[in-house]
Amino acid sequence: MKTVLITGANRGFGLELAKQYAGEGWRVHACARRSSPALAGLTGLHEALTVHRLDVAEHPEIERLAAELAEEPIDVLINNAGILGRHPTFDRQALAEQAFGQVDFDDWQTVLRVNVFGPMKVTQCFVEQVAASAERKVVTFSSAMGSIALNTSGGGYLYRTSKAAVNMMMKSMAVDLAPRGILACAIHPGWARTDMGGPQATVDPAVAIRGVRKVIASLGRERLGQVLAYDGTVLPD
Ligand SMILES: NC(=O)c1ccc[n+]([C@@H]2O[C@H](COP(=O)([O-])OP(=O)(O)OC[C@H]3O[C@@H](n4cnc5c(N)ncnc54)[C@H](OP(=O)(O)O)[C@@H]3O)[C@@H](O)[C@H]2O)c1
Repeated sequence: MKTVLITGANRGFGLELAKQYAGEGWRVHACARRSSPALAGLTGLHEALTVHRLDVAEHPEIERLAAELAEEPIDVLINNAGILGRHPTFDRQALAEQAFGQVDFDDWQTVLRVNVFGPMKVTQCFVEQVAASAERKVVTFSSAMGSIALNTSGGGYLYRTSKAAVNMMMKSMAVDLAPRGILACAIHPGWARTDMGGPQATVDPAVAIRGVRKVIASLGRERLGQVLAYDGTVLPD
């Protein structure tokens, strides 16, 4: 049985990942800083789905969970948990709060702590479990907002810089972990109708995650360090 560990699995993309992987017969470690009725409901349906408490901004919690799961090979590690900023939805208010002149540096630090330091710490703590698995894959969710080439509208300082950092971090990981047979990459899951994406988003979360799973399943060395979108295309840096 293949195993996936997902952060931020109580709602949005994380919940959809848990649902789809469990539905396909995978063992799922669904990590969340708080559970949700939807996630609790999944545990009743799938024996191989376990919920773990994990706040990715709290490093001792990450270390504790990694120690608890020390003997568990993890085929696919998905760093999904992420935040936009103080305002949780991609709309006018979020853009206004992240405009030039409006940047809140405490908020920026929180975004970096969750979106960048979180995946780095989680991956460092779980790398042995990934190395011990058959698939050996590490994915961190990025965004088209992290692409320098695609940035024509400016603004979005907190979120954009965090996802640009994710892209660079995953490129370094792809290089550093390749000798151990581990494939690492950043994936843009699409602009989808989650709490973060908002109701105007263009993609259905279930469709996005089916695409993401397909991209993860087909990851190979030739894609080393690229930022991949849920539809299989490559995002420019
Ligand atoms: N939706 C989009 O259009 C879109 C586009 C590109 C990239 N992404 C990326 O996809 C990922 C998931 O986004 P989403 O749309 O599903 O967002 P969402 O609906 O806002 O859900 C965010 C998830 O992250 C969790 N989370 C936040 N801070 C956390 C922390 N410190 N520790 C653990 N979990 C934490 C949340 O848990 P709580 O319930 O505890 O807050 C929630 O489960 C993010 O990395 C995001 O940047 C999303």
